[in-house]
Amino acid sequence: MKKILELISEEMEKAFRKAGYDEKYAKVTLSNRPDLCEYQCNGAMAAAKEYHKAPVLIAEGVVDALQGSSLFEEIQAVKPGFINLKLCAEFLSGYLNGMKEDSRLGCEKAAQPKTIMIDYGGPNVAKPLHVGHLRSAIIGESIKRIARFAGHKVIGDVHLGDWGLQMGLIIMELKNRKPELPYFDAAYEGEYPKEPPFTIAELEEIYPMASARSKEDAAYKEAAMQATFELQQGRKGYQALLRHILNVSVTDLKRNYENLKVEFDLWKGESDAQPYIPDMVQRMKEQGFAHMSDGALVVDIKEETDTKEVPPCMLLKSDGASLYTTTDLATIVERMKLYAPDEIIYVVDKRQEMHFIQVFRCAKKCGLAGEDTVFKFLGFGTMNGKDGKPFKTREGGVMRLEYLLSDINEEMLKKIRESRPMSEEEACEIAKVVGLSAVKYGDLSNQASKDYIFDVDRFTSSEGNTGPYILYTIVRIKSILKKYEEQGGCADDAVITAYGNESEKALMLELTRLNGVLYNAYEELAPHKVCAYIYDLANAFNKFYHETSILGTEDEAQKSGRIQLLSLTRRVLETCIDLLGFEAPERM
Ligand code: ARG
Repeated sequence: MKKILELISEEMEKAFRKAGYDEKYAKVTLSNRPDLCEYQCNGAMAAAKEYHKAPVLIAEGVVDALQGSSLFEEIQAVKPGFINLKLCAEFLSGYLNGMKEDSRLGCEKAAQPKTIMIDYGGPNVAKPLHVGHLRSAIIGESIKRIARFAGHKVIGDVHLGDWGLQMGLIIMELKNRKPELPYFDAAYEGEYPKEPPFTIAELEEIYPMASARSKEDAAYKEAAMQATFELQQGRKGYQALLRHILNVSVTDLKRNYENLKVEFDLWKGESDAQPYIPDMVQRMKEQGFAHMSDGALVVDIKEETDTKEVPPCMLLKSDGASLYTTTDLATIVERMKLYAPDEIIYVVDKRQEMHFIQVFRCAKKCGLAGEDTVFKFLGFGTMNGKDGKPFKTREGGVMRLEYLLSDINEEMLKKIRESRPMSEEEACEIAKVVGLSAVKYGDLSNQASKDYIFDVDRFTSSEGNTGPYILYTIVRIKSILKKYEEQGGCADDAVITAYGNESEKALMLELTRLNGVLYNAYEELAPHKVCAYIYDLANAFNKFYHETSILGTEDEAQKSGRIQLLSLTRRVLETCIDLLGFEAPERM
């Protein structure tokens, strides 16, 4: 379906032409005086210059040309030259009936679907997930769903951090603890055991311990670096350990992401890109892009228009070791080869922006991707505690994701228990579903690039701009629909009828915005626009609900029309929260 603003604009263009003016002046916007009208057109003011005529005369001419239009109920020319537009009730309900009949609620699919890869999550193997990874997962998942809904082919890749010093640290620490294992015997020729030599609990304990020790013990760190190097050079025992570490870690990560309703299509990691490095580097050298500088191999990428310094992109250190940049470049080579995406979107902490500027420029310059391949960096801000500083545990350590989620759950459970009597089991179920909405909505309702304050109390509140408020609204609608059915009502074939009061009209107008909002949210990679929309929509619904006795509507056609209006509102809200990555319970 066309967006309602497009339909109105087209009608206005016709009228401008009919009145003898250029249609380019027919642009319509939402009214900034909603008390007077819903839409307005200010084009007469601009046209006045070209036609040397008083703007109000032009406006009047256009208003005349609009007589008989089925879109408007009231059209007014107002000095100095505004055209105020009020939609006709039948046009409005007709538009909503169109949405209701469409399985996509009037949202058209992209005419030219693109293949889009989204690089998000980015957890580091064997290190516990911390709150920094939460944002990437939540935002990336929502972008993925929004882009997919828009009709594109979207591939989400978790891009594991599995190729750094942490691997060497774990290997070294394991060697200290269990030197008898075959993995450490360079001369070992046999098969390596199928069972991993550690559990996830051990693995999680090993890394922080080894990491802390390496900061104090230079020889220990040296050994870990050496192990990392040997692993990267392909030492067999270490490669076998890497696979164990990956398996154990990924099983645990999958469980965590499942709880967050975050799903990846690909579980690739930095290590998968390594085989592409030698060829890539060779070509960059041969084509003259890469050169030696202070012993390192680099590609110059600065541009004349740069306002801040963009350092050369480093490919290999003087000892021949590759870097984070090298891995990301090789990952581009791999992705182009295997998936040929039109676009790659990276959802990563905004503090990594310079790294991605370097990677994107270098990839373009060296022709690793096509001319038209689009790289986008969606950098997000920090999640802070109430003190405005990066979120920490009470003891001051890095906040693990699991703890944060259980904090939210606990608070949610308290609130749910207070809301009405129910079994403990039901309360736990509901708390889990609503708690996730609290976390996700709390995050997504902010513009991604901004820092925000994680406020358990506010996020879990059922009032205000929160996930639980949205869910309460959906549950309220569900319960009215259920009551209607219990009373023997059946509105299956009913159509939405003309509004009966102002708050009903306001709700209808909000509903018509859906396709425009989702289109913008996709174009701008902005889930916060979906949040802002459903908050407005929920408010409009609740106002209507408080002012109108829906089930008490006397006229039968109007009553079943209102039931349809409610069920459309519910579908719109549910579609939107699904795009944000959470769902509503049956009851709360
Ligand atoms: N593992 C990285 C981190 O924890 C994030 C990875 C982001 N993606 C990428 N292609 N570099 O910081």
